[in-house]
Amino acid sequence: MVQVDTFIEKAISQIKAEVGDEKAVIALSGGVDSSVCAALAKQAIGRNLLCIYVDTGLMRKGETQRIVELFGSGKADGSGGLLVIDAQDEFLDALAGESDPEAKRKIVGERFIRVFEREAKKTQATCLIQGTIYPDISESDEGIKSHHNVGGMPHAIAFSKVIEPLRELYKDDVRQVAAALSLPEEIVTRMPFPGPGLSVRVVGTVTREAIEIVREANVIVEEILIPKYHPWQCLAALIGRGTGVKEGSRNFGWIVAVRAVYSKDAITAEPVQVSFEDLAEIEKRITSAIPEVSRVCYDVTPKPPATIEYE
Ligand code: XMP
Repeated sequence: MVQVDTFIEKAISQIKAEVGDEKAVIALSGGVDSSVCAALAKQAIGRNLLCIYVDTGLMRKGETQRIVELFGSGKADGSGGLLVIDAQDEFLDALAGESDPEAKRKIVGERFIRVFEREAKKTQATCLIQGTIYPDISESDEGIKSHHNVGGMPHAIAFSKVIEPLRELYKDDVRQVAAALSLPEEIVTRMPFPGPGLSVRVVGTVTREAIEIVREANVIVEEILIPKYHPWQCLAALIGRGTGVKEGSRNFGWIVAVRAVYSKDAITAEPVQVSFEDLAEIEKRITSAIPEVSRVCYDVTPKPPATIEYE
């Protein structure tokens, strides 16, 4: 990347020029990409920016609350303002019955845009600012998977401009910019989490029950693996069902796949060599806390040939 300070200066003046006298909404998820975008946009257009966080019902445990603590109070970007939209039913109802991974991504991408359009209309905002980074674009363009904010976005949208200040950056670059902008350490180092959230961590059809289960499993995986291995990303996904036995009876429960990877840019990734002892602890904690789970597996596949997320 170009020098961080030069990038910041340029990005701010570009946002200023592109938005002009209009108003903009920014899709703020609390991840490092959108937080950096919000901070840049706030400096560029001040009160003409509305930050919107959408609770899709597909977020990790406690995530919405934490984002509100960080941004609602203005701690993270200095804006002091965040509009939180509870769209849980809207997303979960739209996903109901769909099992195809690309169709699921497009449903999520479209829902996000429709929510932003509704809110933008109320404030007469005409521009949408997004924290899209280079790997989101390249993977969508190459047809690997439609990232919700690129290939998963509907073609017809009500915004006159979509502004993506980070579209040429990799994650590591974004973290450097975040640090230079003095964003809180928690944001600078925040583990990536996909826009379609837990919906891409349930292989096949998404139900409220499956989301609850995978949400709990993700908490356990993060609690055990992050402090010890500092992975670039770790996750739990529901990958199907398998026969188990519980208190002497058949239990056709969920199969949880645990994944932890090291990566630099998300384009390639290596599995973390987690000790068998730690894997056994994950298994024990998941199967005792979540009775609907009958099996836990660890994924040792690099990217390629796998991707990081399951869908
Ligand atoms: P994959 O699964 O393609 O993921 O190896 C690479 C990185 O991108 C994240 N990811 C997404 N991020 N919208 C996003 O903002 C998406 O639709 C999306 N899909 C995957 C993934 O978590 C990993 O960090």
